[in-house]
Amino acid sequence: MRSLKTQVGIVGAGPAGLLLGQLLHLNGIDSVIVENRSRDYVIDRVRAGVLEQGTVDLLNAMGVGAGLQRAGLRHEGLYVSFGGCRHRIDLAELTGGKAITVYGQNEVVRDLIDARTMTTRPLYFEAERVSVGALHSSSPVIRFQHGGTDHEVHCDVIAGCDGFHGICRPSIPAGILTVYERSYPFGWLGILAEAAPSSDELVYTYHERGFALFSMRSPRITRLYLQVPPDEPIENWPDDAIWDEMLVRMTTRDGWRPTVGRIIQKGVTPMRSFVAAPMRYGRLFLAGDSAHIVPPTGAKGLNLAASDVLVLARALKAFYERGRTEWLDEYSDVCVRRVWKAQRFSWWMTSTLHRFADENGFNHHRQLADLDYLTSSRAAMTSLAEQYVGLPMEVSFESAGLC
Ligand code: APR
Ligand code: PHB
Repeated sequence: MRSLKTQVGIVGAGPAGLLLGQLLHLNGIDSVIVENRSRDYVIDRVRAGVLEQGTVDLLNAMGVGAGLQRAGLRHEGLYVSFGGCRHRIDLAELTGGKAITVYGQNEVVRDLIDARTMTTRPLYFEAERVSVGALHSSSPVIRFQHGGTDHEVHCDVIAGCDGFHGICRPSIPAGILTVYERSYPFGWLGILAEAAPSSDELVYTYHERGFALFSMRSPRITRLYLQVPPDEPIENWPDDAIWDEMLVRMTTRDGWRPTVGRIIQKGVTPMRSFVAAPMRYGRLFLAGDSAHIVPPTGAKGLNLAASDVLVLARALKAFYERGRTEWLDEYSDVCVRRVWKAQRFSWWMTSTLHRFADENGFNHHRQLADLDYLTSSRAAMTSLAEQYVGLPMEVSFESAGLC
C-alpha cells in the first residue's frame, strides 16, 4: 500500500480536473490528479469545440493558450438557418467585440496534460477501483489501484471532476443532493470529415426533417451533427446515408452546402439537461459534468466546467492563504447561479431548433416565429450573442490568483 498526502485531491483528468490542477499550481497549491482512463483515450476522445470568450481569456491568463492561439479559429459570428435561408448573427458587433473560438476539447485537454507534466505534480492515468471516503472529515481520502499497488491519497479537500458517470457524485449520501433533470427525445449523430469547411462560421439549421449543425475543427476538417432518434445505433447510418441527410437538411436556396469528404469518425450522443445541487458535501466539491450536463446545442459544457473551477480555485486560494472558508461555503451557490443561466440558454436553443416527434402544427409555427423574431430583431440577436459568447464569469481572474 502506498500512502500519499496532498492538499487537493482531484478525481478526473477532463477539462475540469486539469484546469483546476493548473490553477492551483499557479497559486502554489499541491494536488494529485487521479484518472481512470489512459492518456491516449482522454486525448483522443472527440468532444465539442466551442470556447467562450471568457474561457479563451482564462486559458491565456493561465499561460496555457499557446495551442489555442496557433490553431484556434476565432469566429465573430454564426448563422441560423431555416426555411432555406441562412441568417448571420454578428456576435462581435453585438457584444462589444467578443467572439467564440473553435478549438477541439481534446486539444484543450492535450495542452493541459502537457502543462501538468511540466509542473511534475502527480497525474495518475489508468487508475483502477477509484473511490473516495471520509468526506465529512478534515482529511478525506481517495483510494485507487495503480500498476497493481493500492494507493491512498490523504487530502484536505477533494474535487470531484470525474464527469457525469464518475464516482464522486454517487458517493454523497442519499438525501443530500437534489437532482433536476430533463431528457430529450433525440440524440445527435456527429461526424468528422476530411473536407474543407464551406463556411467560415457555424451554421445552426432548423429543418422539417430535424436539426443539423455545421461546424469545423481546422481548415481541412469539417464537424457536422444531425438530430436522430435517441439511442440510434450508428450502424443504421452508412456514410452515404449520413451525407444524403446532411445535404437535404443543410443546403440553402442560395446553393450553400457543406463540402462532402471522407468520414473519419462518427458517433451518437444522447441529449440531457441535468443539475445536482448543492455542488458540495463536506470536503468534497463537485465541478463540471459531475454536477451538471447541458445539451450540446448551446456549446456550454466545457465552458461551465471552466467557470466552476475558477470559483473553486478562488475559494481554495483564500482557504490556504488566509484560512478563510466563506468562499468555500459560497462555492455551490455562486456556481449554480451561472449553471442555471447556461441550462436555460441550452434548453432554449435545443427546443427552438429541434423537431419533436409528438409536436403539432402549433409548435412548428411557434418555432418558425421564434427563429424569424430572433433573426430580425436586434434585441433578440443581442440576447443570443451575449449568451453564446458567454455570460460573465462570477468571479475575477485576479481573485483566483491570475493577473
Ligand atoms: N475515477 C477517475 N476518473 C474518472 C472516473 C473515476 N471513477 N470516472 C470518470 N473519470 C474521468 C473520465 O475518464 C474523464 O476523463 O473523469 C473525467 C471527466 O471529464 P469530462 O467528462 O470531460 O468532464 P469535465 O472535466 O467536467 O468537463 C466537462 O466535458 O463531457 C464534456 O461536454 C462536456 O464539455 C464538457 C466537459
Ligand atoms: C462542435 O464544433 O463540436 C460544436 C459546435 C457547436 C455546438 C456543439 C458542438 O453547439
